[in-house]
Amino acid sequence: MKDVVEGNEKDEQATSLYMCGNSLGPLSKRSKKYVEQELQVWGRKAVLGHWDHPFGRPWTQCEERVSHLMSDIIGAKPNEVVAMGTLSSNLHIMLATFYRPNALPQLVLPNSAGNKPVRHKIIYEALAFPSDQYALASAVTLAGFDPKTSLIALEGKKDRTLETQDILATIDREADTGELAMILLGDVQYQTGQMFDMEKITKHARSRGIIVGWDLAHAFANVPLAMHDWDADFAVWCTYKYGSSGPGGMAGLFVHERWGNNSNAPGASGLPRPAAWWGQKKASRFSMPDSFDAIQGASGWQQSNPSALDMAALLGSLETMALAPALGSGHIMPALRQKSQRLTAYLEHLLLTPGFLPAEANISIVTPKEGRFRGSQLSSDVPPPIDASSFVARVHHSIETRYGVVCDVRNPDILRFGPVAQYSSFEDVWRTADALRKSIMAQL
Ligand SMILES: Cc1ncc(COP(=O)(O)O)c(C=O)c1O
Repeated sequence: MKDVVEGNEKDEQATSLYMCGNSLGPLSKRSKKYVEQELQVWGRKAVLGHWDHPFGRPWTQCEERVSHLMSDIIGAKPNEVVAMGTLSSNLHIMLATFYRPNALPQLVLPNSAGNKPVRHKIIYEALAFPSDQYALASAVTLAGFDPKTSLIALEGKKDRTLETQDILATIDREADTGELAMILLGDVQYQTGQMFDMEKITKHARSRGIIVGWDLAHAFANVPLAMHDWDADFAVWCTYKYGSSGPGGMAGLFVHERWGNNSNAPGASGLPRPAAWWGQKKASRFSMPDSFDAIQGASGWQQSNPSALDMAALLGSLETMALAPALGSGHIMPALRQKSQRLTAYLEHLLLTPGFLPAEANISIVTPKEGRFRGSQLSSDVPPPIDASSFVARVHHSIETRYGVVCDVRNPDILRFGPVAQYSSFEDVWRTADALRKSIMAQL
């Protein structure tokens, strides 16, 4: 899928190796073309572009094809997915909907003593991305609880990864108290690169009546997902990493179809949610009724009219992925997954080959070895912890400035590489490993 990288730019930067698609994916030709088209339409048609769009993407409907492609990527039904907003704000919308300890009847179950303990606890990863931690703590506080007692952190092992059985045991322990409301995990873990056993965790938590949410920031367009079949309640993700939608690009939202009757119309039984006009039924949206009547499915959680420029950028990259000749079955992820597993395994093989990296550097791989527990990202532990003059910081500086390898570091001492199936080659992986070897030797 060379198409994902702009040909001329790649030639001009022949020495640059992009291993940071796990943070921000590069620009595709198609995204560039679509964004330029949107600028033209804005210039020529202004407000009329909402309905009259020379390229067939009227802005009032611009999320539809994008949402459809995203549903394929995360293994959901089309009406369970919508392209909207940003990850963190979508997470807040989901928390406002599903974390309602005092109000949502499903969240208040009798305990054995016959009392009704309020379900106020949320299980999350101790290493969760900070924005998720802030969102969880604020949701708990807004509901009148104390994050210190309501948030249950899953602590990893010494290597920072988590065992599935420990996650399940924590779910059981907390569910037994009758106070567990929700579990929210990130898949793939952004520091370690660990992919959780989402199916097992989701099904187990659901069997205990727990609301299950996922942050798919590092999983979207990276690993195959089956969000509908695994039965999660909701998921949120950004698309600027493996989805190459551009900095701060359009995000995504999954709401399982069991919550599909969205109607908030008088007398209807839809879930209450933070409502806004773009979630209003399309037929009546522009007649501006006084009361909110949500679109069925995930689209009923939309808030604002989306940025057509951002949507066009995302559409371009998703179509590029969907058009890859290898995609015989028509589904996007299986073909990408095959290549990404081989790329990651090749990088790991090189770094772990005895004698390839100097033993004194004491570098280990944090990301789990088994393919089913990881995606494209390989995280290496380069001790001691990062600071401006530490070894990992010097190696990072050297690999980028001397060898043109773009990768990143995460505190305390993780050097992350993201060989991405959409555009990385096996030669890129070899050159990256070789540059790492040389950078380490120069810094010892
Ligand atoms: C795992 C994870 N969650 C949440 C976020 C926050 O995303 P946003 O800034 O798009 O809301 C990020 C950003 O990189 C992330 O990696």
